[in-house]
Amino acid sequence: MTADERPGKPADQTEVRVSELMLPHHANAHGNVHGGEMLKLVDSLAYVCAARFCGGLCVTAAVDRVDFHEPIFVGELLTLVARVVYAGRTSMDVEIEVFAEDIPSGRVRKTNSCHVTMVHLKDGRPAPVPRLICNTAEDRLRYAQARLRREVVRHQRGERERLRAMLEGMSDQEAERLLRDEGFGELRTQLLHRSEHAAEPQGGPDGGRTDAG
Ligand SMILES: CC(C)(COP(=O)(O)OP(=O)(O)OC[C@H]1O[C@@H](n2cnc3c(N)ncnc32)[C@H](O)[C@@H]1OP(=O)(O)O)[C@@H](O)C(=O)NCCC(=O)NCCS
Repeated sequence: MTADERPGKPADQTEVRVSELMLPHHANAHGNVHGGEMLKLVDSLAYVCAARFCGGLCVTAAVDRVDFHEPIFVGELLTLVARVVYAGRTSMDVEIEVFAEDIPSGRVRKTNSCHVTMVHLKDGRPAPVPRLICNTAEDRLRYAQARLRREVVRHQRGERERLRAMLEGMSDQEAERLLRDEGFGELRTQLLHRSEHAAEPQGGPDGGRTDAG
């Protein structure tokens, strides 16, 4: 089945949410809510969101980004809102926003934003997911950002090997010079040069093929 023949699901119908009261057993040594407690809720909700979208079992492949904007306090009501913002061939980018409500005043603060990559598994192997249909400008913005993020991550994976090859071929003194402020621009230029060569098609009809997404 090609990417375009897969059934599609609208992005604006993927939202799921959960609320939980933050109690003393969620606290860290400072008395605020432990980041790990919040991450556990994030991972669980990402699973629900992705599993509903693909109609099957999923695993977490990566917690791509977690921003801690503000602390969360014991006694607050935490509400997490998750949505699928990008669907690849077998993986989904799930965005989770976290809000903390001070119940007596009703004041709500956005405390965290997270992105988690979930992979649909069937018989233990990655399996296709539906296409994500973006009907609104906001959905398209989220989709484009997620797709760009994925390209950056893929690029960075190759970058480690290119950096290793560059630095291993140098004297210790030269490598030290390139790591300092005055040499870092030069290191970046050399790396860019290697990346451009690595990105060149290797020949043949599929040489420059990109992910269909
Ligand atoms: C996630 C996992 C299934 C990927 O398996 P794999 O053999 O690498 O599969 P593939 O190379 O075919 O990749 C499948 C998809 O996952 C994505 N993926 C794999 N590793 C990834 C990573 N580290 N970060 C982001 N995406 C990743 C690929 O880009 C691909 O997406 P696409 O099909 O939409 O293009 C496998 O690494 C795994 O089982 N990891 C452990 C999961 C786990 O235990 N999670 C915690 C408990 S739920």
